[in-house]
Formats: sequence, structure tokens, C-alpha cells
Amino acid sequence: MQFKLLLVSFVLHYSAAEYYKTKPDFVKTCYKSDPEFDDCSKEAVQQLFKALGPGLPEIGMVALDPLKIPKIRILQGEGPVNVNAALDDVIVTGFGATEVLLNQVDSKTYDFYTKVRVPKIRIEGTYDLKGKILLIPLVGRGLCWFEPTNMTIDILSDVKLYEKDEFVFFNVTGAHVKYTIGGLNLRMNNLFDGISSLEDSTNAYLNANWRPVSESLRPILSKTIEDILLGFMQQLFHNLPANYMIGDIKNSSVLKKADKKV
Ligand SMILES: *[C@@H]1O[C@H](CO)[C@@H](O)[C@H](O)[C@H]1NC(C)=O
Ligand SMILES: *[C@@H]1O[C@H](CO)[C@@H](O)[C@H](O)[C@H]1NC(C)=O
Ligand SMILES: *[C@@H]1O[C@H](CO)[C@@H](O)[C@H](O)[C@H]1NC(C)=O
Repeated sequence: MQFKLLLVSFVLHYSAAEYYKTKPDFVKTCYKSDPEFDDCSKEAVQQLFKALGPGLPEIGMVALDPLKIPKIRILQGEGPVNVNAALDDVIVTGFGATEVLLNQVDSKTYDFYTKVRVPKIRIEGTYDLKGKILLIPLVGRGLCWFEPTNMTIDILSDVKLYEKDEFVFFNVTGAHVKYTIGGLNLRMNNLFDGISSLEDSTNAYLNANWRPVSESLRPILSKTIEDILLGFMQQLFHNLPANYMIGDIKNSSVLKKADKKV
């Protein structure tokens, strides 16, 4: 399966803010030297998600639930999916109920590996679509919603450390996502400019074939989730010193020595 062109872009608005100069209450500090570090950090990440739900305006973090995204653009050519689509005024609900299953931090690179489960997500917005999904030509614009259930997401985050004042910060430079879903319901209103017999039968067909539909959208969805997560993590970790999360994180005096050894 080859995708000649895959391009997703979206816009989230962040405002500039001052980072936390003292440890906020929602941060649980864990120590790499603790044999129970993984359990501790799983709990710590769970608490972060809880705090991120309503948003942290003091560091410019918008709410995670509901998550508002002004625009998602999708352009993909070739293969079973060939679409040119835009989703506007997108509202995503459900991430507030994210359950953290696992969190690990690499001892050398500090890259994170996180596994989460989201019972139910609802994505609503206004779509504008022209293309093919499962070889069916689809054209339309109107309201739509998608509801994936039991989504599990594996997230590998690339991290670099940097220092500012007396703090160490995580610079999250990449996010790699793999996900599974247990089901998908969807509805696209006004398909084929509202020729209702076609609209209803096409929606019924897409729902009945949700598994191949979601498989065909996987590259687009993975990239979208990666972009959104990356934006969130960057905004969060540029404003939340890593020392608060990992009490015995390496600092430059230690890191520089390590560099010299190489
Ligand atoms: C959700 O998905 C996971 C992984 O695919 C599976 O192990 C679990 O049983 C599912 N849970 C529910 C409630 O469907
Ligand atoms: C974070 O990493 C990126 C990519 O390597 C780099 O361009 C950027 O300057 C870094 N930011 C900070 C604050 O270190
Ligand atoms: C840097 O790390 C070393 C070793 O953990 C520690 O003794 C020292 O106090 C740290 N320095 C700062 C500025 O945090």
C-alpha cells in the first residue's frame, strides 16, 4: 500500500506564558532511582491528564476535553483512500477520561513510552470532502461526527533535555503513535449535496464496514494524533520543569561529563 502524498495540518492556538517557578499540586514527583519508578510515573502521568482536562491557562494550555481545533486539513493521494478534505470547528470530547496503562522513561535518553486507553471519543465538526474511501467516491459538505470506542494508544516521545535558569526541561521533538480501536460509528450529513437515499445508504455502508474504513484512514489519523499530541506535549513541557516530575533527573554537570566520555 503506497501513499504518494500524505499531508495533515492543523492549527492550535497557544499563548505565550511564564513557566511554573514552583511545583504545581497536580505534579507527582518520581525518582529514577526508585525501583517502583514505572508505577509512580504511571500515576504521575494520570494526574497530568486529569489536570490537562480543563486546561492550564496559566501556562497557555487549552482544555484537552473538550478539545477545540479550528481546522484539520487532509490531503492524501493514491491507495484505497484518495481524499481532499477539511474539517472545521472541530470539537473532540472524551480525552478527559483517558486511562494511563503504562509509562516508562528511558534512563539514558529520557524518551517516554506511554500507553493509554480512551473508552469513547467523539469528534464533531463541519467537513468538506471530495475523494474516495474504499473506492467509493464521496463528495459533500456539512456536519459530521465520528465515534471511535475503546481506543488504545501507544506513544513513543522523543525527548531532548535543556536547561533554563536552575531547571532542566524536556524538549519533546517527536511523537510516534500506534493505536487500535474496538469500534467506530460515524455520520456525514449532506453527502452528495443531500441526495438523501445516497446519503443514508453510504453512511450505512461506511458504518457496516467500519474496520476497513478505519484501516484506510489509519495513516491520516495517526499523523493527526501525533501532531496534536506533539503540540500539547511541547507546550506543557516547555513550561513545566522536568525536575518536578523526575526528582533525580540528570543536569548539565552530569550530562556534560557523559558527553565527554563518548
Ligand atoms: C479494549 O481493547 C483492548 C486492546 O485491544 C482489549 O484488551 C480490551 O479487552 C478492550 N476493552 C473493552 C472494554 O472492549
Ligand atoms: C528543541 O529541539 C528542536 C529540534 O532539535 C530545536 O530546534 C529547538 O531549538 C529546541 N528547543 C530548545 C528550547 O532547546
Ligand atoms: C546536578 O546533579 C548533581 C548530581 O545529581 C547534584 O549533586 C547537583 O546538586 C545538581 N545541580 C543542580 C544545579 O541541580
